[in-house]
Amino acid sequence: MSDHLFYQSAVKLPTIARAEGIYAWDTEGNRHIDACSGAIVAQLGHAHPAIRDAMLAQLDKVAFAYRTQFENQPALDLADKLIDLVGGRYDRVFFSGGGSESVESALKLARQYWFSMGEPQRSVFIARKPSYHGSTMGALAMTSYTPLTQPFQPMFQLYPKISSPTQYRVPAGKSAEQYALECADELDAAIREVGAHNVAAFIAEPIGGASTGAEVPHDAYFARVREICSRHGILLILDEVMTGVGRTGRWFGFQHWNVEADILCLAKGLGAGYYPTSAIVTRAELTDPVLASGGFQHGYTYAGNPLACATALAVIGVIEREQLVENAASTGAYLRGLLEELATRHHFIGDVRGRGFLLAMEYVADRETKAPFDSSLKFGEQVTRCAREHGVIIYPRKSLMGETGDHTLIAPPLITTRAQCDEIANRLDDAFRALAL
Ligand SMILES: Cc1ncc(COP(=O)(O)O)c(C=O)c1O
Repeated sequence: MSDHLFYQSAVKLPTIARAEGIYAWDTEGNRHIDACSGAIVAQLGHAHPAIRDAMLAQLDKVAFAYRTQFENQPALDLADKLIDLVGGRYDRVFFSGGGSESVESALKLARQYWFSMGEPQRSVFIARKPSYHGSTMGALAMTSYTPLTQPFQPMFQLYPKISSPTQYRVPAGKSAEQYALECADELDAAIREVGAHNVAAFIAEPIGGASTGAEVPHDAYFARVREICSRHGILLILDEVMTGVGRTGRWFGFQHWNVEADILCLAKGLGAGYYPTSAIVTRAELTDPVLASGGFQHGYTYAGNPLACATALAVIGVIEREQLVENAASTGAYLRGLLEELATRHHFIGDVRGRGFLLAMEYVADRETKAPFDSSLKFGEQVTRCAREHGVIIYPRKSLMGETGDHTLIAPPLITTRAQCDEIANRLDDAFRALAL
């Protein structure tokens, strides 16, 4: 085995041989259920024949064309399709490759918009804690997840961070709604503190991703956030990298509350693991002044290439034809019910949350107090390892600023059936029993 390759850790993993649907097989012949779509990416599962056909057809025509030299039809069609799907007042799309790139693009567009509007002092971006917006320096500066940010902090500006609205750890004596509104009002306070005229934008995930473990805000939250952004004249960026493209049982997370953002970030499910593809969706009102004052000073080599866009178009086509957004809503609710049943049997499951096929379980040392496990126990990793031994891949992270609070995301492909949900839940049940706490 080669020792040359490294990623985050030195843990040795099985080598994948092939994958189909929601299943993957390693080179030892073991079958794994992909119950987290990789990194919440593989919307259609693996080896979908329609995507293979679309990619091969595009490869036969042209794989790559550079955006400053050619337009290409798949990119034009994908932009039209995205505008159609998001609805509302959006009418401009900009392509990039991955989620971090889409967040960088949103930040830079917001910044350049203010610059071209003659308000160059607007350079403050407000984000939430905990949150995850990506690994590149701009996206990392928006992120609050201590192990990821701490080593690099001296390299970026420290911007104001407001509390992410948890519904699990609502402070005693407050209703979930009161607390959600208080969290939103922290935005108002942060804007006042730095001065609204210095603020470019606020960025948030509609439903929390890996950093909170699928925390769904109270219904009152985003209306208040939108009102605050509008009142102070700052832009609202919604990071839909994880929640977009059907994942939460709507095409986009913002549609749960019909909150209108100024910029949306999309990635992950857009290429669905078949090709890295990401986008921001916005309005001409923002892009016109930027283009009129010399152009958007930003771009990536692979942005909007024909193969990427043909892949994303095919992914969207399958989601529409196979009614996978509807499946994510209904079968996701069914899976959530099964996870809630597991929580009645396993005392360390403190919370089951999420929407559609973006679900999470948070594990606690004490259900009453919601006290997290001591981080030295690495409980989330233990659960994940045990689940893997029982043939299920799940996605562990920590809910309390990346330091403590173990959760795992359960986010299978949108094609997952009820029978497959039963299989996932039964295997998790066995894995939890084997943990023998
Ligand atoms: C909400 C959110 N934004 C941005 C990113 C970064 O995406 P990528 O890893 O494709 O750069 C992620 C990745 O998990 C994410 O969940």
